[in-house]
Amino acid sequence: MGVRDPTRTIAPLRWDPDDVVDICRSLLQPGEEYKTLDLPTAPAWSTTGWLAHADHLLKSGKGRSERAMSTIVTGASGQFGRLVTDLLLRELPPSELILVTRRPATLDHLKQRGAQVRYGDFDDSQSLREAFAGGERMLIISTLSVGRRAEQHRRAIDAAVAVGVSHIAYTSSGGARPDNPAIVIPDHLRTEAALKESGVAYTILRDSLYAEAVVTEIAPRMLAIGKWVCCAADGRSPFISKIDCVAVAAKVLTTPGHENQTYEVAGRELLSFRDAAALTSEMSGQPIEFVVVSDAEEAAGLAAAGVPPTYVEGLNTPGVGTSAIDDIVSYEQGMRGGYFEVSSDDVQHILGRPPRSLRDVFMEHREIFQRAAARA
Ligand SMILES: NC(=O)c1ccc[n+]([C@@H]2O[C@H](COP(=O)([O-])OP(=O)(O)OC[C@H]3O[C@@H](n4cnc5c(N)ncnc54)[C@H](OP(=O)(O)O)[C@@H]3O)[C@@H](O)[C@H]2O)c1
Repeated sequence: MGVRDPTRTIAPLRWDPDDVVDICRSLLQPGEEYKTLDLPTAPAWSTTGWLAHADHLLKSGKGRSERAMSTIVTGASGQFGRLVTDLLLRELPPSELILVTRRPATLDHLKQRGAQVRYGDFDDSQSLREAFAGGERMLIISTLSVGRRAEQHRRAIDAAVAVGVSHIAYTSSGGARPDNPAIVIPDHLRTEAALKESGVAYTILRDSLYAEAVVTEIAPRMLAIGKWVCCAADGRSPFISKIDCVAVAAKVLTTPGHENQTYEVAGRELLSFRDAAALTSEMSGQPIEFVVVSDAEEAAGLAAAGVPPTYVEGLNTPGVGTSAIDDIVSYEQGMRGGYFEVSSDDVQHILGRPPRSLRDVFMEHREIFQRAAARA
C-alpha cells in the first residue's frame, strides 16, 4: 500500500515525531481531528490529512530527519567499538545507536544511557538479523578470527541487507591487494568484494598498521632486550593512530558523501621499524640495535615468547597483543615487500586535520619510555 498506510511508512522513514505532529496539524482540513494511532514510536494523524499530503512530502523530502537514522556498531564491546561509540554519542542521541555484541552485559552502562544494546553473533545469522533490525547505517568492525572472518562478515552483510540497512562501513586493512603475503589480507578482500556485491552503499576503511601497536606493544618488548628484532627489514608502513581510525569511522557514519568510497586510512609518513627503533631509543635514552632476522628466526622468537602459531579466540599475549605467529611473520613479509606502502591524504580530507604522526603517538605514551629511562 506504500505511502498510504501510515503504520507501514512512518517507522521505516524515520520521521522525527515532533516534526510529524507539526506537519500533520498543519495539514488538517476543517472538521478533521488529530488523533494518535496505536504506534509505539510515532504519532499519527487523520488518515485524510496523511493521504492528501504524504506523496507531496515524500517527493519534497520535507519532514524527513537525517539525524533520526539508527546507526549499528558491531564489535561494540571491543576497544575500537567502545571508542567509536564515545564519538558517535557526541553526534547522535543514544537511542539512535544499536550496539551489537555477544556479551550485552558488558555494555550495560550504555544501555542505561538509552542506547539499544543487542545480542548478535557473527556465527549465527538469525541473531544478526534480529540485532540489526531497524538500523540504517552500520559499522562492521572486522573480527580478529583470521581465516574465518570473511564468512562472519558475509553473514553480517547478508543480515544487514535482509533487514534494510542502507549503508555499511567496514574496517579493512591497508595493503589490501591480492599479491600481499600477509594472511590478514584475504579475509578483507573477500569482505570488500561481498560489500560491493551486496547492492547497499558501502565505505571501506583500509586502516594501516596501528601506531599504538608499535608504540605500546612492540617498542616496549624490544626496549626490554635492547634490540629491535624483526624480519620486516626496511619495509615501510604509513603507521596510523587507532584514535584517528576511530575518528574517521565516526565521521563516515555521521556525515554525508562517503557512499561507495574506499579510503586509505593512513598516516602521512612511510616509516620502517628501523625508524620506530630510533624513536624508541630517543624517547628512552637507551641504545636499541636494529637486527634483521629470517622469517624462521622471527617465528622461533615469537614462539619462545609464548605466541601461538595461529589465532585462537581471545588471544592476547602480553607484550605482543592479539596476533599469532603466522599473522606477524606474514605481515612483516608484506612490509618487507613494500605491499603496505600506501600514500594517501584521505584522513586529512575526512577529518579536516592531519593524522597523528608516529612521533605524536610516542609522545602520547612517553611515560612508558620515561619509566624505562628511570630504571636504567
Ligand atoms: N590496523 C591494525 O594495526 C590492526 C591491528 C589489530 C586489529 N585490527 C583491527 O582492529 C579492529 C578492532 O579490534 P579491537 O581492538 O576492537 O578488538 P577487541 O577489543 O578484541 O574487540 C573484538 C570485538 O569483536 C567482537 N567479536 C568477535 N567475534 C565475534 C563474533 N563471533 N560475533 C560478534 N562479535 C564478535 C567482540 O565482541 P564480543 O566478544 O563482545 O561478542 C569484540 O567487540 C578489528 O577490526 C581488527 O581487525 C587492526
